[in-house]
Amino acid sequence: MNTTIRKTTSAGKGENVAIFTTNAEKFNTSFFSKQELEFIKSEIKKKNRLIGVNQYNRYVFLQIIDVNTKESHKELEYNRKAGEQLTSALNKIKAAGVCVITDASAENTYAFLEGMTLGNYQFLKYKTQNTENSLKKIEVVNSHITPAQITELTNLCEAVCMARDLVNEPVNTLNAVALAKAFQSMGKKSGFKVTVFDKAKIKKLKMGGLLAVNLGSIDPPTFTVMEWKPANAKNKKPFVLVGKGVVYDTGGLSLKPTPSSMDYMKSDMAGSAAVGCTMYAIAKQKLPVHVIALVPATDNRPDGNAYTPGDVVTMMSGLKVEVLNTDAEGRMILADALHYAKQYKPELVMEFSTLTGAAANAIGQYGIVAMGEVDAKEKSLLNESANKVYERLVEFPFWEEYDELIKSDIADIKNIGGAIGGAITAGRFLQRFVDYPYMHFDIAGPSFGKSNDSYRGKNGTGVGVRFMFDFLKGKAGKK
Ligand code: BES
Ligand code: MN
Ligand code: ZN
Repeated sequence: MNTTIRKTTSAGKGENVAIFTTNAEKFNTSFFSKQELEFIKSEIKKKNRLIGVNQYNRYVFLQIIDVNTKESHKELEYNRKAGEQLTSALNKIKAAGVCVITDASAENTYAFLEGMTLGNYQFLKYKTQNTENSLKKIEVVNSHITPAQITELTNLCEAVCMARDLVNEPVNTLNAVALAKAFQSMGKKSGFKVTVFDKAKIKKLKMGGLLAVNLGSIDPPTFTVMEWKPANAKNKKPFVLVGKGVVYDTGGLSLKPTPSSMDYMKSDMAGSAAVGCTMYAIAKQKLPVHVIALVPATDNRPDGNAYTPGDVVTMMSGLKVEVLNTDAEGRMILADALHYAKQYKPELVMEFSTLTGAAANAIGQYGIVAMGEVDAKEKSLLNESANKVYERLVEFPFWEEYDELIKSDIADIKNIGGAIGGAITAGRFLQRFVDYPYMHFDIAGPSFGKSNDSYRGKNGTGVGVRFMFDFLKGKAGKK
């Protein structure tokens, strides 16, 4: 993350100022001369909502946020988007800092700063020429937001940016071993415990699904266990997060066509980034909640001994799976992680994966496809968090009748369904490996943007981190 946020009491001399207001009629006019106010009025008439005034030693922006909704989650989202617009305007004029002055509520101010910060994200590691954004420092003058909220926002945005970095990193620099190392260093930085299983240990545990997918690869698989267990945890049974860590998905022998469908498959570990970076955020914030995250990781390639369509694989649970498409690899590795999670007797397991093109095709980048059988109260809490952070859930049916579609002629189940309900049959496959309350979140759509989308940016979005942080914060009794 390239931005710092700090609360202050007034703008420094010569510091750029941005006033944001929800009322175009009534705002802090003290920064403007009479002439400038005339200009602003005429701009407002022209429906300009972000008006910049060049005062030579500084810029003063007036940003009007016409909410026009009674739904608070939409209002928050408008504020985030407005924040991104300001960031973009500040970078255009090469501003290094700004002082945001507002009398908006703490929540709206938080969202605005969140949009500003996440909108300022860049992945510059492989740029040899300097293309860095100028904006570095955000100050805020607001009587509602607390320094503790600013600290939380900073930690959360940092976690989201770390998730984006991981997703944007290509496989030639981020294989399964490197991914596990990244989690180890995140654990060191924030205080959660990390254990990495190597190939020998994975063999010992008989993680047949993970080993099968890894057969076509030169690089070994890893299985990472992360744990945050503070002494003051509010929950007795842990929440377990599981994330798909396919560092690259070629499809294996059922090779994906390129261009287009293989090109972005470095992002097939976005689920693992979401859960690992959630761990970072909750540990940084020392949330009193016991959480474990599991990441099975490998690339999926068609090398010499690659698993093949027709193979029967014995999974860690003992279930035998007939492989009919090696491109349905996510469920193979996740099944072992879900089985492994049983030992914790979890309160709830939430698994994030870029699992199916079917989910992405159904709803695009606009939300997360969710499935699961958990009680209504838990679902409503999940929806509440998802709406609030605007990583909305679309619940798909999870009816047992779909199990018909993954019956195998020669084994217990097969790893693909038919032409219909591709996202659902994938979910039902995973359901066979759980014995606890379980939610499946397919993030194939929202995890990676192919064009710019406000503060979500382009490329890795870090989806899942803000959602899980908010949900677990609720479980920690901090909302
Ligand atoms: N990683 C892909 C799913 C995916 C597709 C993620 C597009 C992001 C964007 C997954 O491993 C996959 O290949 N799924 C197959 C399953 C099929 C073979 C049953 C799919 O969706 O086509
Ligand atoms: Mn695949
Ligand atoms: Zn995949």
